[in-house]
Amino acid sequence: MSVSFTQEQISQEAHRLYGLLGSVSKTKAAKWTLQDCQEAAPLTLEINRLKKEKNAVILAHSYTGPELVYGVADFRGDSYELSLKAKETSADIIIFAGVWFMAETAKIINPSKQVLIPAGHAGCSLADSMTGEDLARLKAKHPGLPVLCYINSTADVKAQCDACVTSGNVYDIAQKIPGNELIFVPDMLMAQNLAAELERRGTPKKIIASGGSCCVHDKYRPETVEQLRAQYPDIQIVAHPECPIEVCRLCDYVGSTKGMAAFVEKSSARTFGMLTEFGLVNRMEAEHPDKTFVWPFGTCSYMKRNTLTNTLQALAAPLPGQEVHVDPATAAAAYKAIEKMFELTK
Ligand code: 13P
Ligand code: SF4
Repeated sequence: MSVSFTQEQISQEAHRLYGLLGSVSKTKAAKWTLQDCQEAAPLTLEINRLKKEKNAVILAHSYTGPELVYGVADFRGDSYELSLKAKETSADIIIFAGVWFMAETAKIINPSKQVLIPAGHAGCSLADSMTGEDLARLKAKHPGLPVLCYINSTADVKAQCDACVTSGNVYDIAQKIPGNELIFVPDMLMAQNLAAELERRGTPKKIIASGGSCCVHDKYRPETVEQLRAQYPDIQIVAHPECPIEVCRLCDYVGSTKGMAAFVEKSSARTFGMLTEFGLVNRMEAEHPDKTFVWPFGTCSYMKRNTLTNTLQALAAPLPGQEVHVDPATAAAAYKAIEKMFELTK
């Protein structure tokens, strides 16, 4: 891997990055500095050069680091937005800075593309909570029920479902499914939030759930919300629907990463409590330097395995573990569930 740029090019790139990241927290106590940007600059220059040379597109989930999201990504977004980008792209190579199920979904949607994930096999506590056999057993106990799977699931699980959903469309899709009972896997906390929202909408359904949860969002407690409100009386608090229902009930907005970002954008409040992963806090800091974001805790170690260094590796000479392959029969069955999601989201 040769990374050779002049000092002038590196300095210009460092200043470009600093313009984007200067208001962003690197840790809870420190912001990105010009020195940090100078270190990142040779890598972002080379990634952006190689991207053009190889006709590659970089999709970055908002939970990855801001050096990826703002330094090299062509598109940033939530699981649904990035799936759509993977479907529509004309690039030859998709680099998916995210976790494995996201890159796997991109490969299923667009199988002729080379799909690479910088982080290699970066899991997700939800996707890893359920195998295809587990779902087959659950379906056997409840024959004939419609089955929805959260996109945070493996291809083997998706292959056995009627439709896939994301945090942004789960309520609307579940509402459109006929009948008053359905199986929803693998997030038991989102299943509770789903049941409550369907009840609130006047279309209640019994939800049969499995036992998975997100190891980041399942840690928030009602006390987390109470402490934030006590400390910042005018705070508006947002949460992801992977959080426990007792927490969601106390928040001002609950929704996908895209939905939380839109809430912050529209709100006239100055201070926001973010019950979600640090990467979204970083995005909000970059996009709303005039607002204050309070983040109690929550980091996804799987997402953070994506770095500029392994992104450059994936582009220059991908390691075998960075390339996504899906068994064609499984992919074909999973594709139907994902296509159903696109159809029902229109
Ligand atoms: P979003 O689709 O809302 O971005 O969620 C993905 C995720 O993994 C949340 O933990
Ligand atoms: Fe999975 Fe949670 Fe990480 Fe999202 S934040 S990728 S649900 S472990």
